[in-house]
Amino acid sequence: MSEEGKPKIIEECKAKFEKRIQKATTAEDIEKLRIKYLGRKGEIRSLFGHIQEIPPEKRGEFGSHINELKTYMEQKIQSVSDQLENFSLDATTEKPYCDLTLPGVPFVMGHQHPISQIIDDLLDIFRSMNFDVVSGYEIEDTFHNFDALNIHQWHPSRNPQDTFYVDPEHILRTQTSAVQIRAMENGTLPLRIVSMGRCYRRDASDATHYPVFHQIEGLVIDKNVNFCDLSGILTEMMTGVFGTRVEVRFLPSYFPFVEPGAETFISCPFCGGKGCNVCGKAGEIELGGSGMVHPQVLRNVNIDPSIYRGFAFGWGIERIAMMKYQIDDIRLFYDNNIDFLEQF
Ligand code: DAH
Repeated sequence: MSEEGKPKIIEECKAKFEKRIQKATTAEDIEKLRIKYLGRKGEIRSLFGHIQEIPPEKRGEFGSHINELKTYMEQKIQSVSDQLENFSLDATTEKPYCDLTLPGVPFVMGHQHPISQIIDDLLDIFRSMNFDVVSGYEIEDTFHNFDALNIHQWHPSRNPQDTFYVDPEHILRTQTSAVQIRAMENGTLPLRIVSMGRCYRRDASDATHYPVFHQIEGLVIDKNVNFCDLSGILTEMMTGVFGTRVEVRFLPSYFPFVEPGAETFISCPFCGGKGCNVCGKAGEIELGGSGMVHPQVLRNVNIDPSIYRGFAFGWGIERIAMMKYQIDDIRLFYDNNIDFLEQF
């Protein structure tokens, strides 16, 4: 028995009914609900079936609680179906379109997906630094995704076990770096672009991998650009995203299309470098690759490396979002779980 003295089973039945009737939006929904609860084989009937389990002296009380619930349901069903009828759009009926004295129906507010939020932030930041925003192709040819980026024929990333092939010459792009090549082919120099979008890899999904993810790619080509400019741009980008001043550190690394290339770290925006749980006590977070555009890549698109040089970077947007919002599983971005998404 509950506090009010009503058996739990009756209260549960009422609670379920309330939930369902709130969702009823058509006369058909209401009719289904009526049959489910008040019909010959309905829930109310089956509540009466429990009467034998009740001690004889309590049976009367039990029965009257059920009757009370039954009356309640009948009234509620009637009033909701009246309301629905008043909402009828049928112009041929004489009924009013709606009852203006009723309280308004609250709208459920939509939310921007956290990845879209980060993309919008990045767009603002780069537009304010006078970058052009360009888009590429999600189905890309192997020339732009691999060859022109100096990725050799035997490179493991070309393996069909790692890359989705549409046909032998076309793939779902594995990196936004392909956009660098298209921008250099199409653009006039100097060049200052960013591009953001989806990339695909044949990864089994786990906490840090998902077969589709987003990258931001940046490319600047000019006569006199260097690592300091790259560092400055990345510092502005991450300071903008995290809303607090961060520092950038480069660790030499290898990517076929940049020389020198670097893994890029930022000082942890949460502890300022002291070490905390977010950065795993490292004081810094690794966010992606960057470097000076390889002279061969410039040659591949007919840019003379003795006149022009450039820098580039390519970072995972999920990774940035996971750090910003302290999310430890990339799959959450793709699960369409409303409880998760509503937090942003
Ligand atoms: N495209 C690389 C990847 O997906 C990341 C990258 C590294 C992009 C260095 C760059 C770069 O532009 O300079 O792993």
